[in-house]
Amino acid sequence: MSKRYSSGDVGLDQATFAVDRSEFVFLVGATGSGKSTVMRLLLKEVDPTEGTIRVAGHDLSEIVRKRIPYYRRNLGVVFQDFKLLPSRTVYDNVAYALQVTGRSRKEIRAKVPDILRLTGLSLKLHNYPDQLSGGEQQRVSIARAFVNHPPLLLADEPTGNLDPETSIDIMRLLYRINRTGTTVLVATHDQAMVDKMRRRVLELSEGRIIRDEATGRYTREETTREFAQRMRSPSTRPPGIDVEPVGDEEHLLQDPGRPLHEDR
Ligand SMILES: Nc1ncnc2c1ncn2[C@@H]1O[C@H](COP(=O)(O)OP(=O)(O)OP(=O)(O)O)[C@@H](O)[C@H]1O
Ligand SMILES: [Mg+2]
Repeated sequence: MSKRYSSGDVGLDQATFAVDRSEFVFLVGATGSGKSTVMRLLLKEVDPTEGTIRVAGHDLSEIVRKRIPYYRRNLGVVFQDFKLLPSRTVYDNVAYALQVTGRSRKEIRAKVPDILRLTGLSLKLHNYPDQLSGGEQQRVSIARAFVNHPPLLLADEPTGNLDPETSIDIMRLLYRINRTGTTVLVATHDQAMVDKMRRRVLELSEGRIIRDEATGRYTREETTREFAQRMRSPSTRPPGIDVEPVGDEEHLLQDPGRPLHEDR
């Protein structure tokens, strides 16, 4: 799909990709590369200038305006700035997501405590958002996004405002949600996280998909040969490094780290 904004700015330029049900996918790329545009297109907040977007077999261009809210009920959405209702408690923020989809009070009373337990918020259910840490607020927003068990969860920079340790907790939570069968698409700048998780990585550059790796890192991996070439080249060699010719000892350079499979 392509998206040109009315200002003339290119959001996406013939970006084509497919995500299977139950996948966990990172969307990475420099600022302005089009990550949020992908999210906005999937949410049907904006329409593509060109191309077709299908979600669960539905062509989004065929969804008429008044059906858009119903379509969006299939999506859980998590933002960098949480977007919680400040005058409602944790419990009510999550319950609200069920109310708007017409669930009965009985159902709400049954479901909310469950989801708050899953997200580790059982002790905070009476707190208001301003009485929570950033990580806790993001947990509430994830609880709210997930309480309807949407088939697709979109998270745009979910750890953008959080410290590294809290970010790991949040990503674990998204991963746990993914394991229930929900497809998860995460736009992020969080290089350490992407490198640690080793999930599928889609990279955008100037609105185009330039990389699609099954278990990728934030930046494309350098091969041993490329590394050797770089080290031999005087212009790019770091000062003070004398280099012997390097063989194809790929294994010495690969440090996949420990993936986050905590409780599979
Ligand atoms: N509402 C808009 N009107 C005009 N241009 C826009 C609009 N939203 C985004 N753009 C442009 O589209 C391009 C992609 O923006 P987008 O927000 O998708 O990038 P991003 O990858 O999410 O960046 P970031 O990492 O900074 O969040 C940018 O050049 C941006 O200026
Ligand atoms: Mg963005």
